[in-house]
Amino acid sequence: MARKKKYTRDSSVTMTELVLPNDTNTLNNLMGGRLMHWMDIVSAIAAQKHSNRIVVTASVDNVSFGKSIQLGNVVTLTATVTRAFNSSMEVHIKVTAEDIPSGKKFNSNEAFFTFVAVDQSGRPIDVPELVPETDEEKELYAGALRRRQLRLVLAKRMKPQEANELRSIFELDN
Ligand SMILES: CC(C)(COP(=O)(O)OP(=O)(O)OC[C@H]1O[C@@H](n2cnc3c(N)ncnc32)[C@H](O)[C@@H]1OP(=O)(O)O)[C@@H](O)C(=O)NCCC(=O)NCCS
Repeated sequence: MARKKKYTRDSSVTMTELVLPNDTNTLNNLMGGRLMHWMDIVSAIAAQKHSNRIVVTASVDNVSFGKSIQLGNVVTLTATVTRAFNSSMEVHIKVTAEDIPSGKKFNSNEAFFTFVAVDQSGRPIDVPELVPETDEEKELYAGALRRRQLRLVLAKRMKPQEANELRSIFELDN
């Protein structure tokens, strides 16, 4: 039976949070762990919407914190499914922070999380195919295969020799 197809826009999610005292460290900056918690939630919702299933976080690609987010800032997280494989989906999360009184807004973080759709017993189950439409969606879709192979090699779930998309990085041709 042909796999169902869904578009990126069918599952995109935007979540807004206000940084409160309980979210911050002793310098009044947003704690990294709190931000990652929000990133996990927004991306899990996007993956649930794409698959219409329960999902579990399988992996989190590297997250770096270049600029601190301050107490009182408004944080906006946007999650989009970039590509669906068999049971797994890669989700891209973009984070922006805004100081409303001064009108200053900046891009804070970007990350890729991978979710796996599971049945009631926790077993992986196939998800609909994702069809990218815009140029940005197509670029993220194309890069998703390379990122998947890299994370599976790092997780020792794929042999570097089998990671065709990574041959030029690992120079495995010899
Ligand atoms: C993720 C999980 C369901 C995978 O189960 P599994 O029995 O290893 O299943 P499989 O080997 O068949 O892999 C299923 C999918 O997960 C993907 N996957 C597994 N580990 C992965 C990893 N580290 N990174 C990215 N994808 C991964 C596989 O590539 C596969 O994708 P595909 O179906 O699209 O090809 C299982 O490891 C699990 O339940 N982990 C705990 C999840 C959890 O509790 N998350 C919260 C963390 S606190």
